[in-house]
Amino acid sequence: MTALVFGTLTMAYAQVAPAFPASRMIRLVASPVRWELAPGRRVVAWAYNGQVPGPLLRVREGEGVRIVVENRLPEATAVHWHGVDVPWPMDGVPGITQVPVASGGRFVYAFTVHPAGTRWYHTHADEVGQLDRGLHGLFIVDPLGERPAGREYVLVLGSWVTGQGRPVRRSPQDGMMQGMRERMGIAGPPYDTFTVNGKAFPATAPLRVRRGEHVRLRILNASGHAHFALRLEGHGLRVTHTDGNPLQEPVEVDVLPVAPAERYDVEVLATRPGKWVLRDVTPEVAAAGLQVLVVYEGYETAPVSSDPRPESALRRWTYALGRGVDLLPRPSGQPRRYHLVLGWGMMMAPDRWTINGRAYPDTVPLRVRFGDPVRLRLFNMSPDSHPIHLHGHSFRLRSWNGRVFPASLVKDTVDLPPMGEAELEFVARNPGRWLVHCHKVLHMHGGMATLVVYE
Ligand code: C2O
Ligand code: CU
Repeated sequence: MTALVFGTLTMAYAQVAPAFPASRMIRLVASPVRWELAPGRRVVAWAYNGQVPGPLLRVREGEGVRIVVENRLPEATAVHWHGVDVPWPMDGVPGITQVPVASGGRFVYAFTVHPAGTRWYHTHADEVGQLDRGLHGLFIVDPLGERPAGREYVLVLGSWVTGQGRPVRRSPQDGMMQGMRERMGIAGPPYDTFTVNGKAFPATAPLRVRRGEHVRLRILNASGHAHFALRLEGHGLRVTHTDGNPLQEPVEVDVLPVAPAERYDVEVLATRPGKWVLRDVTPEVAAAGLQVLVVYEGYETAPVSSDPRPESALRRWTYALGRGVDLLPRPSGQPRRYHLVLGWGMMMAPDRWTINGRAYPDTVPLRVRFGDPVRLRLFNMSPDSHPIHLHGHSFRLRSWNGRVFPASLVKDTVDLPPMGEAELEFVARNPGRWLVHCHKVLHMHGGMATLVVYE
């Protein structure tokens, strides 16, 4: 195992899976299940182990796992471990790293888990049909040493097309652009329900806190398209980790935008006893379910407090506010550079999403050699934002929208707004063929994907 990760290219991929001593067995059964999103709003979800989100997997960095995935869905599937640096045959991408797990079949994923942080897992087959049906879950990798003490909650945000409510297509990101996208027919799936840990308000489970506590929230946007922006009334959100990777010091904001596939760990200082609401700042999104009560001990029957500050007075998170801890291998030598222009088929082909004018699988792969520093410059020349995810490697966010960062954030997904640009850097030391793609399922399906291929 270790030899594959740190060794040379000549290691055979075939030796990866079966032969290593795993300390932890995990079973994930994917199947349809009746699921109640909120009282009266029932759907047939597709779920791992009968629950949405799937079971919280929690292991220690460096632990070996064997995860047996059984497919009891009516179609093929595969599971991707997003943000975990697995060896590539374990990456869960049908057609690239494995044959899809047929209906009725099973597949054993075996790998050593690293790096530490808030990671997640989700289906990587027929993402348009499967991801927003519930096939996703959180995967927490604890660092060696002390397990973080204190109260902690996970918030897995989801979006649903149930056909039982009015579609909400407003994104908190950019209201005007969204109107334009609606006219162009690229506003995304007609989501009518939004959930926190599989439930829509008022069915969401309240977060109980005690005065004086520091509460850690691990937030994941598991939606296949929706951007969220969270606010906890009466409290700041202190961002401590981006995509699971630590900041040098916490950054306090009032509003936290979370793009699809991104994770944020935040800390809340419980200093204002009462009953408060954590919700999306877009009222239509909150009304369609994305709300959770935060209830201080002793205030269970209190009325809900509110914070009258207007949105314009609130401090909003952007990547430029954070200073990352640099955990990644130091680059040495000349970087390989690639420019990727994210484009769109325009009115003639509104479902087509491209990289340098081509749609996957016709995109040009990015060739790298083991040990290379690789720099990807991304330019978004399309009318929607794109959360771009790199498989198999975390990267440094060197710059974003014209700002060059002295202390790069470490991430595995970066959101590019329309006309936005970014530069990422990673060191190629996980041999294989790795997807780079937009995490919005329709964009990915429409072609916005390519591969990083080791020579
Ligand atoms: Cu989270 Cu290619 O995926
Ligand atoms: Cu996209």
